[in-house]
Amino acid sequence: MKRYLLVLALSVFCNALNAQNLNLIPYPQQVTMLKTTLRIKPGSLFYTSNSRYKNDVLYLNSQLGLTGKGRQEIKILINTDVDGSGAYRLSTASNKITITAADRAGVFNGIITLLQLCRAANAEGTGLVLPGVAITDKPRYQWRGFMLDESRHFFGVAAVKNILNWMAFYKLNRFHWHLTDAQGWRLEIKKYPLLTKVGGVGNFTDSAASALYYTQKEIKDIVAYAKRRNIEVIPEIDMPGHATAANHAYPQYSGGKVKNYDDFTFNPGKEDTYQFISNILKELKVLFPDGRIHIGGDEVALGIKAWDNNPDVKRLMTEKGYTDHQQAEAYFLRRIADSVIKLHDKVMCWDEAVAANLPVNNVIVNWWRQNKPEVLKEAITKGYPIILSPRLPMYFDFVQDSIHLSGRKWDGRYNTYLDIYHFPENDLTADVYQSKNIIGVQANLWTETVATRKRLDYLLFPRMAALAEAGWVQQATKNDDLFKARLKTHLGYYKDAGIYYYDPFNPDLHKEAIDIAPKPEVTD
Ligand code: ACM
Repeated sequence: MKRYLLVLALSVFCNALNAQNLNLIPYPQQVTMLKTTLRIKPGSLFYTSNSRYKNDVLYLNSQLGLTGKGRQEIKILINTDVDGSGAYRLSTASNKITITAADRAGVFNGIITLLQLCRAANAEGTGLVLPGVAITDKPRYQWRGFMLDESRHFFGVAAVKNILNWMAFYKLNRFHWHLTDAQGWRLEIKKYPLLTKVGGVGNFTDSAASALYYTQKEIKDIVAYAKRRNIEVIPEIDMPGHATAANHAYPQYSGGKVKNYDDFTFNPGKEDTYQFISNILKELKVLFPDGRIHIGGDEVALGIKAWDNNPDVKRLMTEKGYTDHQQAEAYFLRRIADSVIKLHDKVMCWDEAVAANLPVNNVIVNWWRQNKPEVLKEAITKGYPIILSPRLPMYFDFVQDSIHLSGRKWDGRYNTYLDIYHFPENDLTADVYQSKNIIGVQANLWTETVATRKRLDYLLFPRMAALAEAGWVQQATKNDDLFKARLKTHLGYYKDAGIYYYDPFNPDLHKEAIDIAPKPEVTD
């Protein structure tokens, strides 16, 4: 009996190990290994007779570089007994591939798991040999996001598409695109051509660099590219602060000048400012059909002193009986949120906007100030849906190893891939992160220190894989050793793709990619 138990225990253990050897990131909720294997003959193409999902299967073929004439069917079943958005079942039993899901997100996630199984499969002369598996899977969070700042430095269509490809590979489904800030306005607006002609000039390292921005045609192309990969694109127009580039183009909407932060804010006291922004929002509505706009709202305090000398703001304050500038800031955010909502779009904003009492049903709060847990609690109490992207550990512009010199730290702390892997349970109390208001997690990459693709990749990989796990995997099933083992295989994928990644298991493999001479540590 004892021996039987031992054998049983061993076989359960081996099954678990085998399952983890599937090298899937993020790891599925439930994997059952079958005794059978599934052979895919050389020269085969995947296909489905379910016409709604043909494009998703074509995507699988293209990602695997399959071009042959043979056929291997994926049966795609839409079945509402699979719960929740993005959930799926994948089976490779009895030499047959079946994906069952309730929605397209689930089908796509199943296809991505199949893609990763194929990437990891033993390739023999006779084709791919996939393990027989029955997988039941669903995401921990609905929102699994990544934000890229293209104002401080601009990377362009190819870099963004590369990021979207890897996001899809990791089942990340929200791309938050920080397109405007003090250093550059990167989005063509037909009604206001100076936004890009003047506002697109310069970047964080060179204020005279020629204008760089996305044309509307490029934006549409990227949004469609993302949609094919089950990714929603959320553009951010940061306001009323971080508006310097727009104000250089159209000074009539500037909130004024103050030391170190000239023209940092829009003018909340001038009616024309609202018309100007509303016209911009109307163009965004066409470009971003998913219908969600991030209106910023962060760090207005940096430039708010300019409002002391602004006659329009003074008039607004008197008219409304406001006693401090934050009330004018809140008034501005409420009016902008109203404009977005009237266009039938949804609003997202940084956590400072919690103080502005925007309408709870149409606004998602992006909590970023890890040193202000009370603001997160306030957002929960007020009932906002919340995306967690605190600087620690979710800012990818922070260094990721003690030996790294370029990038931010906070009181000496920085963001390793394992810190990200264990988010949010290592960072927040259970009552907070288990709140139903928390709808997702997101990493943000600010690019003050990032001017090249090489450094961009270095900061992203392998932390993007850890982000994928944070967004998908339940806390109880996280396991450092098993994650590390799977990650090692994925480092091989980065190598194959020519990515300049950081190797946490061999930090000397690729030297730290540094674009800008490092500064001493700052906490901000
Ligand atoms: C932020 O990092 N200022 C949102």
